Amino acid sequence: MPIDPEFEENRDVVGTHSPDNGGEHEVRGPVDEPERLGIHGTVVAVDFDACIGDGACLEDCPVDVFDWVESPGHPASDRKADPAREDDCIGCYLCEDVCPVDAIKIQY
Ligand code: F3S
Ligand code: ZN
Repeated sequence: MPIDPEFEENRDVVGTHSPDNGGEHEVRGPVDEPERLGIHGTVVAVDFDACIGDGACLEDCPVDVFDWVESPGHPASDRKADPAREDDCIGCYLCEDVCPVDAIKIQY
């Protein structure tokens, strides 16, 4: 399942995530670890339950928005692309284009 483009209306904020090398961003549920991890970020939103850990977004982002976070026990992959620095996004939409499972939605 790709990320829901209407996720801001359809998914409730259940918390925030403050990664080591980034800014605080919203997490939308449902979250039930380790199987369901929700959506991280708002300007750069990554559906962790859709992400298969492909890594194209990390490789191609020109401003280094993403960091890996470990997700042991998740059915789709054991690592996820966290939008740690979503505030740095320049709206190029490259990550949306390269993600093979459409796990990313940019709202720039
Ligand atoms: Fe995940 Fe797609 Fe990036 S599968 S690692 S969000 S390219
Ligand atoms: Zn996060």
